[in-house]
Amino acid sequence: MSEQKKEVVLSGVRPTGPQHLGNLVGALRNWLKLQDLYQCFYTIVSWHALSSEYMNSKGIKDNTLEVALDWLGVGLDPEKCVMFLQSEVKEHAELHLILSMVTPLPWLERVPTFKEMQQELQDRDLNTYGFLGYPVLQAADIVIYKASFVPVGEDQASHLELTREIVRRFNRIFGPIFPEPQTLLTEVPRLAGTDGRKMSKSFGNAILIKDPPEILRQKIMPMITDTRRMRRSDPGEPNDCPVFTLHKAFVPKEKQDEIAHGCRTAGIGCRECKAVMLEYLIKTLEPVWERRKAFEKNPKLVWNILEEGNKKARRAAEQTMDEVRAALGF
Ligand code: TRP
Ligand code: SF4
Repeated sequence: MSEQKKEVVLSGVRPTGPQHLGNLVGALRNWLKLQDLYQCFYTIVSWHALSSEYMNSKGIKDNTLEVALDWLGVGLDPEKCVMFLQSEVKEHAELHLILSMVTPLPWLERVPTFKEMQQELQDRDLNTYGFLGYPVLQAADIVIYKASFVPVGEDQASHLELTREIVRRFNRIFGPIFPEPQTLLTEVPRLAGTDGRKMSKSFGNAILIKDPPEILRQKIMPMITDTRRMRRSDPGEPNDCPVFTLHKAFVPKEKQDEIAHGCRTAGIGCRECKAVMLEYLIKTLEPVWERRKAFEKNPKLVWNILEEGNKKARRAAEQTMDEVRAALGF
């Protein structure tokens, strides 16, 4: 690994369950490219998971392994990037604490995800100190590696904006230590889940990377299509069809065009159309499953890979914290 000079990329995932196709298309495909171009840190953020899963904290460890398996399965390479566990690099907690001192409460109260998540997850109490500070912890994750780029979806834009505000405030008070990280927005069409809404873990409509072919079939064949196609003879519009969002992600362009034409002219039925997509989806996922299975058989190896990542991350984080403590005058 050439640690020096290369600009730093950091991103993270909450270990709340295995990764789904939306994560694959929206994030992981991009992370794969970035690991060849930058010094990438990819972290599984257990403490962020804890902020909403504190009543079920025992599940976090299993989900951590699931996420790591998905990452290794899609081809994230521990030789090229640093894969690590946030909660094993305690400096994140120290920096979170320090950043919290310079973060005015109203900045946190106006972050839209704070209220949105409370709305979405009404079965638990998210009106906590820790949950309000979620984006401050995220800021610490990012700036402790002096990351220049953070590849995330649009939903994280407000957290990155807050990170930059905190950086500016910190640097003004204590001196220029942190660069302002830029968001690397992944411009990808949203994938629909099994119910036609945006694919999301919290909607329970996710198609998982690790789902075997039978499950993929069970999830995809009953999906709603363009509602104009009540009968086989009714023409449809692929751009109004949730299933076609999956075509766009997994079917080669030429075949996509052919299918779109078939849909618009009622030349192809929805069953056949879905079956074609399923075939390409399986073809895409087969090598992922193969790599994943090899690691599934040897979870110890996965934990070792993460521990190696923890060590590398720790080294970088410690260096930054030395600078931070000096800047505080401690
Ligand atoms: N909040 C992010 C999410 O829900 C997860 C996250 C935590 C993160 N720390 C991060 C993402 C740092 C990017 C960088 O997806
Ligand atoms: Fe959707 Fe395909 Fe049916 Fe068209 S033919 S409505 S794209 S499933």
